[in-house]
Amino acid sequence: MKIFITRQIPSIGINLLKEKGFKVSVYRKDKPIPKKEFIKAAEDCDAVISLLTEKIDKEVIDKMKNCKVIANYAVGYNNIDVDYAKSKRIVVTNTPDVLTDSTADLTMSLVLACSRRISESEKLVRSGKFVGWKPQLLLGMELRNKYFGILGAGRIGTEVAKRAHSFGCKIIYYANSENCFLERNLNAQKLSLNAVLKKSDILSIHLPLNSKTYHLLNEKNLPLLKRSAILINTARGEIVDEKVLIAMLKSKKIFAAGLDVYEDEPNIKKEFYDLENVILLPHIGSATNEARNKMSLLAAKNVIAVLSGKKAITPV
Ligand code: DGY
Repeated sequence: MKIFITRQIPSIGINLLKEKGFKVSVYRKDKPIPKKEFIKAAEDCDAVISLLTEKIDKEVIDKMKNCKVIANYAVGYNNIDVDYAKSKRIVVTNTPDVLTDSTADLTMSLVLACSRRISESEKLVRSGKFVGWKPQLLLGMELRNKYFGILGAGRIGTEVAKRAHSFGCKIIYYANSENCFLERNLNAQKLSLNAVLKKSDILSIHLPLNSKTYHLLNEKNLPLLKRSAILINTARGEIVDEKVLIAMLKSKKIFAAGLDVYEDEPNIKKEFYDLENVILLPHIGSATNEARNKMSLLAAKNVIAVLSGKKAITPV
């Protein structure tokens, strides 16, 4: 059986597929595969391992006549028309759990970088303008006793909450359902979206992107944030209306933002570049050797399971 992988991923998963006798082909360029080439390569494949940079819509799915499984090499799967794939009896899988720690660690890196103005501080030193210790130089914010608001209390949100709690933060969260672990162990409080926005000193987004979460944070509710608040997004850019965020950062209506994801990746709004109170990362939430190896292995195992007539390990 044939498997097409849309980019070079860690060899551990590819080797496993080869060991099991699958014929594997990989798109060799280190950039998103053009749609036409993707369709051509995937047309006669039994399975595809895709990245979040590939839009797998109705047009693409219709051409994947033999495909039984699309294994997305990501926990998010907003790049795939999952309902349509399911209607065509194609199983869609993702890579949850294995990237939770990496993403939670990166979230905390952004929290600390924003609260202690790390990027501005580093730029000051590199520019040669550091002329010595000053009482008022680059004052930031401590985390102890601050309200840490989490939007979406799933796996990543929970791990972030654990980390933030260990820094002395008080956890509040907005989610569809109660998270008993957070409430029992971290004394977390579930609140409405607006209440979380109003109360948070740090607000961190850990929701999936879908029609309900697109621009969940917008011109109506973003102004509820405190002037001293920090907004962190390591989930999906489209959850935040960036135009509103930029205006708020420009006019110092919030203290800072730490972003790993953007509305129109990889096109980043130019206005962000001129702002000192935003930290911009290139979507590296899961970018650790540990997570990427496990993502590769899990994607491969999902393919193997489905193609051998078993249930997928992590279907979406
Ligand atoms: C995911 O898995 O959804 C991340 O955004 C990619 O690392």
